[in-house]
Amino acid sequence: MDSLSNINEELETLLNTFKDKSISRVSKYVPLLFTEKQQQVYDNDCHELLAEGSAGSGKSVSLLAAALKYIDHPKYAALILRRQFPQLIQSGGIMDLANDWLSNTDAIWTASDKTWNFPSGATLSFGHMNNENDKTSYQGGSWQFIGFDELTQFSETQYLYLHSRLRKDDYVQTPLRIRSTTNPGGLHNRWVKKRFIVPEKLNPTIQHISMQLDDNPHINKETYLEGLNKLDDDTKAQLRDGKWLDNTTGIIYTFPEENELQSIPNLPKPVYILAVDLGASQIKATTGFVLLGYSEEIKDLVVVIESKAYAGLTVSDIAELIKSYQEQYDLNEIIMDQGALGIGYINELNDRWHIPASGVQKANKLGYRKLLSSAIKNKQIRIVTENNQDLIEELRTLPWNSKGLDAHDGYPDHLSDALLYAYRQCLDYLSKAPAAKSPNKGDEGWSDYEENRMWDAMSHDDKISKDSPWWRQDRRRRR
Ligand SMILES: Nc1ncnc2c1ncn2[C@@H]1O[C@H](COP(=O)(O)OP(=O)(O)OP(=O)(O)O)[C@@H](O)[C@H]1O
Ligand SMILES: [Mg+2]
Repeated sequence: MDSLSNINEELETLLNTFKDKSISRVSKYVPLLFTEKQQQVYDNDCHELLAEGSAGSGKSVSLLAAALKYIDHPKYAALILRRQFPQLIQSGGIMDLANDWLSNTDAIWTASDKTWNFPSGATLSFGHMNNENDKTSYQGGSWQFIGFDELTQFSETQYLYLHSRLRKDDYVQTPLRIRSTTNPGGLHNRWVKKRFIVPEKLNPTIQHISMQLDDNPHINKETYLEGLNKLDDDTKAQLRDGKWLDNTTGIIYTFPEENELQSIPNLPKPVYILAVDLGASQIKATTGFVLLGYSEEIKDLVVVIESKAYAGLTVSDIAELIKSYQEQYDLNEIIMDQGALGIGYINELNDRWHIPASGVQKANKLGYRKLLSSAIKNKQIRIVTENNQDLIEELRTLPWNSKGLDAHDGYPDHLSDALLYAYRQCLDYLSKAPAAKSPNKGDEGWSDYEENRMWDAMSHDDKISKDSPWWRQDRRRRR
């Protein structure tokens, strides 16, 4: 009798487990129960909502669940974006999570267009927007839900452009929603903070929900904190505590909208300068080309006509590119970064390709950066928007490092560096621009300035710089 009651008890426990399993999910496509904050995100149908806060607080789960909320409606279409393709496909990322949730359901995956198709007729697609202009590949599409995972990696123009893709015909009954997640910090911290966290005017259709690590009981907090505690103070405050720091003062250039040009202005007897900043990466676009034009008949106007960064260019690729610019613009000057790579490249371009490229003087970069920044502020430098989207993004986001002497590591700077080189060649023409002022002894930037000045003097006759390979520097020192 005793053993029978034991068996009954066990059966009951087993049954309860099954019962629990069947109710421990939000829907057949969302196989978990929400945390309180995730429930708030799910229930909120306002137009724009940002789930922001600590790493690991459950933001991406809330985004995917929100995308699936109206998936039973036949005409419903949802799109979730990451900035870069590798982020989209990474293991543990949002596309992986969708695969975990949906692969054993009646939804069907079509790999070619990265879309889950549901029996209702609804769809959930994934995409990315590596470069600024990739936003236009979503032209013509229409969705009722657009999600941005890690919003501070996207530019404001990409975000706003996608708004125009949010549409419904009369027969689609679901609300139009844009949902995003992010940690504070990141390349585009500034506009995200301004739009969602500290807006000038409160707008009930634009909301944010703050999520902290403690809001997610499903994560191993100790292991997570162990990793986060190793970070520098600012990043720790952003990722661990979800704090929105003010990093807007740290941007090197900034670039106001008034400086954008919708088309190339007419430049009588134009002077064209092509500047190249060399990078060695095979994967990242680190070789930047910038083409400037001006006319001595028009005062104080330098126009950035086009710019582009490339990955993995050989010297002959560079030669071909320069030739194609030459054919189109009849270049007056071609200047290149003469760092470690540059000297060899310049020699080869001169000797083998008969391209009259010359090296740029790199002394006092700090001073010239400040001059370029004020030339932008004074509207002496204008940029043709359509051909320079990545350059404009770089100018608007490139921060100073913590000492305020150079660009912060890890941010793209090859287009703005090429612009800096080209700009230096126009200083004579921009007669009003004062010569770069050298810092006083002991001031911020003085030691950098002195070092560059020394290299400049030493390398006067044979173009050796502090960026030259060590064997060339050594030879020089031994003399
Ligand atoms: N409601 C839930 N039930 C079970 N597990 C959950 C729940 N919410 C989140 N998790 C798990 O917690 C972990 C962190 O969640 P998620 O990836 O959504 O956090 P996040 O805030 O987007 O993190 P990050 O800032 O690193 O992108 C994941 O492993 C996720 O599967
Ligand atoms: Mg996430």
